[in-house]
Amino acid sequence: MNRMGKRTTQYICQSCGAMFSKWMGQCDVCKDWNCVVEELTESKPLADNISIPDNFFETIPDTGKSQPDATRHETEMKEINRVLGGGFVDGSVILLGGNPGIGKSTLLMQLLSAIKGIEHYIYISAEESTKQVSMRAQRLKVTNDDLRIASSSNIHQILTALSEIKHNSIVVIDSIQTISSDLIQSPPGSISQVRFCTQELVNFAKNNDVIVVIVGHVTKDGAIAGPKTLEHMVDCVLYFEGDKAYDYRILRCEKNRYGSTDEIGVFAMTTEGLREVANPSSAFLSEYDDNVSGVAVFSGIEGTRPILSEIQALVSNTSNPAPRRSAIGFDPYRLSMLVAVLSNRCKLNFSNKDVYLNIAGGLKITEPAIDLAVVAAIVSSAFHRPLPQGAVFFGEVSLSGEIRQSHLSYSRIKEAQKLGFSQVICSYKTEDFDKNEKIRLRKIKSIREILGILNK
Ligand code: TYD
Ligand code: MG
Repeated sequence: MNRMGKRTTQYICQSCGAMFSKWMGQCDVCKDWNCVVEELTESKPLADNISIPDNFFETIPDTGKSQPDATRHETEMKEINRVLGGGFVDGSVILLGGNPGIGKSTLLMQLLSAIKGIEHYIYISAEESTKQVSMRAQRLKVTNDDLRIASSSNIHQILTALSEIKHNSIVVIDSIQTISSDLIQSPPGSISQVRFCTQELVNFAKNNDVIVVIVGHVTKDGAIAGPKTLEHMVDCVLYFEGDKAYDYRILRCEKNRYGSTDEIGVFAMTTEGLREVANPSSAFLSEYDDNVSGVAVFSGIEGTRPILSEIQALVSNTSNPAPRRSAIGFDPYRLSMLVAVLSNRCKLNFSNKDVYLNIAGGLKITEPAIDLAVVAAIVSSAFHRPLPQGAVFFGEVSLSGEIRQSHLSYSRIKEAQKLGFSQVICSYKTEDFDKNEKIRLRKIKSIREILGILNK
């Protein structure tokens, strides 16, 4: 066993974390260019005697008699509780990712005054001075006398300052890309630094049973620096997303060791900080006008919650031999596929048409049940005719043009009814429900039937 300290030079890809013994212009693993950087790593010598504590091995408590004690701290922000599956668990490490300026620092500052029953509240910023942090806290009307803020970018200084902090505490580190260790030669933000500092913070959280929230800025392609390496080190990965042109912000869970990853939280950025959006459906439909062509309402499910959103399509003539299929908030490949299904199954000609798709409010939707709403919006725009008034759509479209059933149909229909919609256009396989309901179900088998709906 090597007990000596050692200095080594490694070449590490800043995109995927792959290590090489020599420099290269293109990473062999992820094929990204100009991302392999030389990094010096210095390993510390091992201690002579490695001691084993008495309680190194533990037994699992009998769940029948006593519940395992994973204390959860609920917050006053219901949207955060929803995303985390109940609240923060002691000793867990949460990574909050998002584009710069999207509102991560704002969210965490508000969180610190919304989480109760905590002994030590600590916010450490490596990006802003304590004055800037406290100005923001004042503007956000954060009322928490127990909150302590600090500004430091040295991980060892931070951990020494935190040495007294134990159980029942929350520490926010803003951000992982700006803190660093002197033991690592490479600059802050590099893979080695980010990985080392995260590991130190994880050890601190686990050894002291403290909740640690780490902010991570995402890179241009939407990944947190050293993405995969960081994601497996922490217990929970949250992404804060949204379009800066809109007020809406979505908190999404990418990984959660203590709950499901399906739920989303919806917020609106206001002049007084983030406000929770209790009824996202009406928020995303606020500007919906059912007299316009190219607009369809989709009744979707995010986690367990139905959310209605507005799907806008524009079909326009083009002389470009390779017409554009472009989408915001939706997978462009799926858009191309749906256009191909429409051309083939409905005999519509899109070879001289550009097709654009947008989901209003900056939402991103990945569930296949959106297909029918997308197809309806495209057809409506192509024929310059609005879809029927008060209609919502959901259903997956298969390559054969058949409309497939979607899960949680009943919740989708109920939500549409709650918001005053009068008809639902969905798959022929959707189960009937209470006949007394006022909303009408129009079940269709093939996308060809959309043309009929349009013409009436
Ligand atoms: P911030 O939390 O600093 O973003 P991040 O930490 O993700 O980089 O938020 C910055 C943006 O939020 C900035 O563009 C201004 C806006 N903002 C408001 O609109 N209202 C507010 O009350 C606050 C604090 C910020
Ligand atoms: Mg910030």
